[in-house]
Amino acid sequence: MKKYLILASLLLAACNEAADTVSTAPVAEVPAAETAEAAAPAGYKTLDGQKPIIIAHRGASGLYPEHTLKAYQTAIDQGADFIEPDLVMTKDGVLIANHDGYLSDATNIAEHDEFADRKTVRKMPMGDMDDWWSDDFTLAELKTLKAIQRVEGRSHDYDGQYDIATFDEIIDLVLENAEKGRIVGLHIEAKWPSNFSAAGLDMVDPILDTIARRGLREAGIPVFIQCFEPSFLAQVAAKSDLPLVQNIVGPPYAALLGLDMKLEDIPTMGVGAHKAMILTEDGGTTDYVDRAHALGKVVHVYTVRDDDPAEGFESAEQELKVLIEAGVDGIWTDYPATAIAVRDEAE
Ligand code: G3P
Ligand code: CA
Repeated sequence: MKKYLILASLLLAACNEAADTVSTAPVAEVPAAETAEAAAPAGYKTLDGQKPIIIAHRGASGLYPEHTLKAYQTAIDQGADFIEPDLVMTKDGVLIANHDGYLSDATNIAEHDEFADRKTVRKMPMGDMDDWWSDDFTLAELKTLKAIQRVEGRSHDYDGQYDIATFDEIIDLVLENAEKGRIVGLHIEAKWPSNFSAAGLDMVDPILDTIARRGLREAGIPVFIQCFEPSFLAQVAAKSDLPLVQNIVGPPYAALLGLDMKLEDIPTMGVGAHKAMILTEDGGTTDYVDRAHALGKVVHVYTVRDDDPAEGFESAEQELKVLIEAGVDGIWTDYPATAIAVRDEAE
């Protein structure tokens, strides 16, 4: 059931979006792996021939509770090219990092008796869900919570130690690292923006204004904006030249959720594809990356996990090698150190 709900939450971001709502987003320059450091080895089959970028999925979330500053800094220390905050909104309009609009999976809110009566049922794409929701709480209230490990089988040693991080705090971390000469990019996902805008908490301007206010471009911080909702990306495209990634899901959920988008119909410069669209269950690959590259699009693939290799693969290392051989341009992973080692071996 838990797995089902996680899947539902991943997909709900786009539940009301249809493929025909997309607009023609301008194509912006692709930030290179490791930015200034990346050489261009001949062996990579990426669109630009450079190393695929390694994107720390919710930070080094295999090791520490996801979306915490500890998880992000660990990923940076391991050499990730990008860290990935999933952003949601608080009741008072603050952008915070959390994978979902609901809070029970990755925080200890269930232990907070003072919030017990705020648990409410909301309609989700795959049914009603009874939980606590970020936009029912102020930032001050959410700062009384602590992050917990969400994934079964991973360490709970760090549960209760780290706060929910705001977008600004994550940027603080990125800029502090940049000042020390360690440039890491931000691969920013807006989660469920149509829900928040319906509640009067539009996410487009807060995200773009924060990026501008904090001087990320001036500091040389590469930025991608990604989302499952095409209309959100179209709004960003109308206001910004930031490189955009349209996240997509594979069958059968794509059709179920109105997200059955053909590559040719995607206007953004990048697609964020589920790995099942690239890998086959006998350990091979589809032609998805080649088709995207033929259209001039980069492919970032989600998500590789050391503790959960894809069907048909004995290890994450094997899976990573095949993805890199297929030519993916970016890889989301919960374990950046593993992906970096495999990628750099392939050089
Ligand atoms: O955003 C793409 C990638 O991160 C996978 O999605 O559900 O883990 O945020 P999710
Ligand atoms: Ca994400």
